[in-house]
Amino acid sequence: METPSLWVMQQIFVTLILLIQSSVAVNRDNFKTCQQSGFCKRHRAMTPGQSSYEVLPETVNVQSTSVNLQLLNTVTNVKLTLELSGLERSTARIKINEVEPIKQRYEIPVGDVLVEEPKRQGLKKLEQTSQSLTLGIEKNKIVISFKPFRIDFYTEDEPVVSINAQGLLKFEHYRTKQEAQPEENVEEAKEGEEPKVGDENAEEKPAEEEQKKEEEEPDLWEETFKSFTDSKPHGPSSVGLDVSFPGFENVYGIPEHADDFALKTTKDTDPYRLFNLDVFEYELYNPMALYGAVPVMMAHNEKNTVGIFWHNAAETWIDIKSNVADKNFFSKVADFFKQDSDIPQTDTHWFSESGVIDVFIMLGPKPKDVFKQYAVLTGTTPVPPLFSIAYHQCRWNYNDQDDVKNVDANMDKFDIPFDVIWLDIEHTDGKRYFTWDGNKFSHSVDMINNVASKGRKMVTIVDPHLKKDDNYKVYADAKSKDLLVKNKDGNEYDGWCWPGSSAWPDFTDPEVRKWWESKFLLSEYEGSTNDLHTWNDMNEPSVFNGPEISFHRDVKHHNGWENRDVHNIYGHLVQQATADGLILRSDHKERPFVLTRSFFAGSQRNGAVWTGDNIGEWSHLKVSNPMLLSLNLVGITFAGADVGGFFKNPDPELLTRWWQAGAFQPFFRSHAHIDTKRREPYLLPDNNMKIVRNAIRARYTFLPYWYTVFYNTYKNGGPVMQPLWAEYPEDKLTFKMDDQFLIGPSLLVKPITEQGGTGTNVYFPGANDVWYDILTAEKYLGGKSVYVNAPLEKIPVFQRGGSIIPRKMRVRRSSGLMHDDPITLFVCLDRQGKASGDIYADDYHTFQYQKGKYLHRQFSFSNNKLINSNADKNGSFETKEWIERILILGVLKKPNAVAIKIGNQQQQLAFGYDPNTSLLAIKKPGSKLQEDFVITLL
Ligand SMILES: *[C@@H]1O[C@H](CO)[C@@H](O)[C@H](O)[C@H]1NC(C)=O
Ligand SMILES: *[C@@H]1O[C@H](CO)[C@@H](O)[C@H](O)[C@H]1NC(C)=O
Repeated sequence: METPSLWVMQQIFVTLILLIQSSVAVNRDNFKTCQQSGFCKRHRAMTPGQSSYEVLPETVNVQSTSVNLQLLNTVTNVKLTLELSGLERSTARIKINEVEPIKQRYEIPVGDVLVEEPKRQGLKKLEQTSQSLTLGIEKNKIVISFKPFRIDFYTEDEPVVSINAQGLLKFEHYRTKQEAQPEENVEEAKEGEEPKVGDENAEEKPAEEEQKKEEEEPDLWEETFKSFTDSKPHGPSSVGLDVSFPGFENVYGIPEHADDFALKTTKDTDPYRLFNLDVFEYELYNPMALYGAVPVMMAHNEKNTVGIFWHNAAETWIDIKSNVADKNFFSKVADFFKQDSDIPQTDTHWFSESGVIDVFIMLGPKPKDVFKQYAVLTGTTPVPPLFSIAYHQCRWNYNDQDDVKNVDANMDKFDIPFDVIWLDIEHTDGKRYFTWDGNKFSHSVDMINNVASKGRKMVTIVDPHLKKDDNYKVYADAKSKDLLVKNKDGNEYDGWCWPGSSAWPDFTDPEVRKWWESKFLLSEYEGSTNDLHTWNDMNEPSVFNGPEISFHRDVKHHNGWENRDVHNIYGHLVQQATADGLILRSDHKERPFVLTRSFFAGSQRNGAVWTGDNIGEWSHLKVSNPMLLSLNLVGITFAGADVGGFFKNPDPELLTRWWQAGAFQPFFRSHAHIDTKRREPYLLPDNNMKIVRNAIRARYTFLPYWYTVFYNTYKNGGPVMQPLWAEYPEDKLTFKMDDQFLIGPSLLVKPITEQGGTGTNVYFPGANDVWYDILTAEKYLGGKSVYVNAPLEKIPVFQRGGSIIPRKMRVRRSSGLMHDDPITLFVCLDRQGKASGDIYADDYHTFQYQKGKYLHRQFSFSNNKLINSNADKNGSFETKEWIERILILGVLKKPNAVAIKIGNQQQQLAFGYDPNTSLLAIKKPGSKLQEDFVITLL
C-alpha cells in the first residue's frame, strides 16, 4: 500500500489542477509560439528566392518507377539524396535525406501510418537536358529543374504543384557540436564565393563559416521554454520545404485547429501548428495546435483538386501565403484597372523538427480522385458497428452502477433512444485503468448486462498513463517487462496525470502494443464483458507537469528515438493498440469501437475521434462544423464534437440546437464536465426535451443511410461529412462555405448555430438540381440561396432531388433492436424525373462483411420504373429487412395503378397520391431487401 501522506499529496495536486483548470481560459503561456521555437524561427526567417540547392546532373539516375539524384547545398557543401517515385493512381512521392548522416534519421515504419509500402507506377522519361528532367506519370507531367532545384507538377499542361519554387528547402544535417573555430579560418572564406565540387578548400571553408554562424544562434543545442530545458542531445535536425499551388486560391485540411475550413493566410499570425497537445479551453479561429495532427492539405479550384501528405511525425508548422488573399482591397482594384490577370496562387511552407522530408503529391484531378489517392496510402475507416453511429450518452461521471441504471431507465421512460452509456475516469479504483471502484461499481458485469439487454453497449475510459503503484498489476507488469517510456538518462519517465505520479507504456514499440492488446482480454480486464468498448483520452500524451503539458522532447522511445521524432504518432498508436485489443478479445469476430482524442494520419482505421474539451457556448457549436469538415476531408470520417460543450452550463436553447446539429454529424455523443449541472436530455424543460427527442429519433431513422455512407467511404475513401465542393467541384460559391455541409452525396444540412435563430439562408447547390425539405417536402430550386424558417423545433435538412435514401421509421430504444426492421425508401426525383441510391446491410456488428457476408443494393428510378438490383455480386447476405413503404416526391401526376414484379410474379400495390406535394406513397411492396424487383407506375 502507498503511504497515506503521498496519497493526500496526490489528491491535493489533482484538486489544484482542477481548480486551476476551472478558473481560467486557455493559458497561452503554456504553449510555444513560433518565436519560442528555435527551428520555427530559423525556417520562418528564410528569404524566398534564394535557394542554395542545386541538382548534381551527373547523379541523376532514372529508373522505371523512380528517379534518384543528389542535391548540393552550395553554401554548406552538404549533399542530400532525393528519390522521386511514381505511385499508382497519379501520385508521386519525394523523399529527401542526408547522403551520409552521422546518425540515422527517423522514418515512420510502414504499417504505423502507411497501410503498406505504396505500390509503384511507371514514370516515363520524356526529356533530359543539362538543365532539367521531364517525366510523365499517367496524364501528368513532372519537371525537375536543376539550378536552382525545383520540381513542378502539371495536369493537362497546367502547373498545379511546385516544390521548392520559393527556394525554402532547408535540411539541418546532423552534426557534432564544435567549439568555436579560430577566427582566421573563417575570414578566408569570402562571402558569396561559389564552391567548386571536388575542391577541398572550397568545400571546407564556407561550410565552417556556415557552421560557425549557426553555432552563434541560440536554441541550436539546447532550448529552454519556461522552466523546461530541452537537452537536444543530437542538436538541430529540422527539415523544411515549400509547396506552391499555382492556380489555387483555397487550401484545406491540416487538422486539428479550431478554425475555418478554408485555411487562412498566416501573414499576421503564427504558422498553423501540428503538435499534439492537451489545450485547456481552446481558443477559436487561430492556428494553435490541438490534440491531433493530420499533415494533409488539399487545394481545390473549379478545374483541379490536388493534395499533399507530409509524412513526418515530429512537430510541424505550416505557413500559408496567397497572392490573392494577401492583397488588400485597393491593390485588387488597382489590378483590375491594370487588367492584371494574375492567376491566384497559394504558397505553403512546411517544416518539422526532425525526421526526413517525405512528401506525397496526389494529383487528383477531381476531389474524389484525391480522396481515393489518399485512402490508398493510409486506409479508410472500417464499417463501424451500427451502435457506434447511433446516439451516445456520456458525462464525467456517471457516479455508480445505480446512476447508470437510472439514466438507462429514464431514457426509456422518456422514450429517447440511445445506444451507449459511458464511464469517465471516476469509475476506476484510483485512476488505475482496467479496474473498477469496488464500492461504486461492485457489480459491473450485471450493470453492463442490464444495459446490453436492450441492445445497448457501454464504454469505459482507458488512458495511457499508468499509476506508479507496484500493487497496480498493469503498471507492475509493464515495469517488470521494461515497456515504459524512458528519460534521456535511461530511467523510467515520470510525470503527473490524473492518478498522480505516472508512467507511460511506449506505444511506438510493436511489442508494447501487443502487451497492451492482451490487457483487454476478459481474463485480464476483470469485470468487463464483450459489450464494453473503449475511450482513449489524454493520449497526446497529456502530462500535467511536462513542457506544454506533454512529454519532454528528449524522452526516449523504442530503438532510442526521442519523443521529438515520434511525438505526433504516439496517441494514434495508443488507439491502434486499443482497437486491436478489443479485436483480440473477441477472437477477431466483433468490430471494436474506440474513441480517441489524439490522432494522426491513418487514425481513421482505428475508430472515432472527437474534438476534445470544447465549451458550452454558441461559438463552439458553430466551429464544430468547420472542425469536423477538416477532419473528414483528410479521412478522419468518424468524428464528432461533444454535444452541449464539455465546459460550462449552456441554456436549454443552446443545448437543443447542439443536439440537433449533433444528430447530423458523424459521431454523436453528448458529454459534460464533472462540475456542470446534470443535462441528460430528459432533464430539459418539456418543450426542449421533446425537440431533442425528435432530433435523436431523426438520427435513428437515418441510420440505414449513415451506414451506407460509411460503407461507401470505407470502399472509396473520402468524407462522410462533406464540403459542398466535394459534390459540386465547379461551384465557386461553395469554396469557403463551412456552415452547411452534405452527409454523403444526398443530404444537405445547415445547423442553426445562432442564439435566438429562427431561420437561416440556405445555399442550395446545383443550378439544375432541386432539394426537398425532409419534413415538409417543400421544394427548393438549386443554384441559389433561400431564407428558410427554422424555429427551435426545426433542423434545416434537405434531400437532393435525384437521390434515394433508405430509412427505418420505427424507432426503438436502441439501434440493436432495429437490426431487422423494415425499410422506407425516400425517393426524390430530379428535374428529369430520375433518382438513384443504394443501401448497404450486413449483420451490423461482426467482421463477416469482410468475408463477403453483406448486401449492397442499387435503387434506380427512371421512366416511371423503380428498380431494386444487386450493386455488388461479391456480397451475399440473408437479411430479414424488407421494404415496407416507398415515398416518391416529384411525381407530377397521379398514376392509374402501381405494379410490382418480382421474378415472374406481378401484382398491384396500394398507393396514395398528394398533388400538393407531388408525393406518391406506395404501401407494402413487402419485398425482401435482397430480392430484385421492378415497380412500375402505370
Ligand atoms: C468484386 O471483387 C472483385 C475481385 O476482388 C473486384 O475486382 C470487384 O471490384 C468487386 N466488385 C465490387 C462491386 O466491389
Ligand atoms: C391540397 O391543398 C388544398 C388547398 O390548400 C387543400 O384543400 C387540400 O386538402 C390539399 N390536398 C391534400 C391531399 O392534402
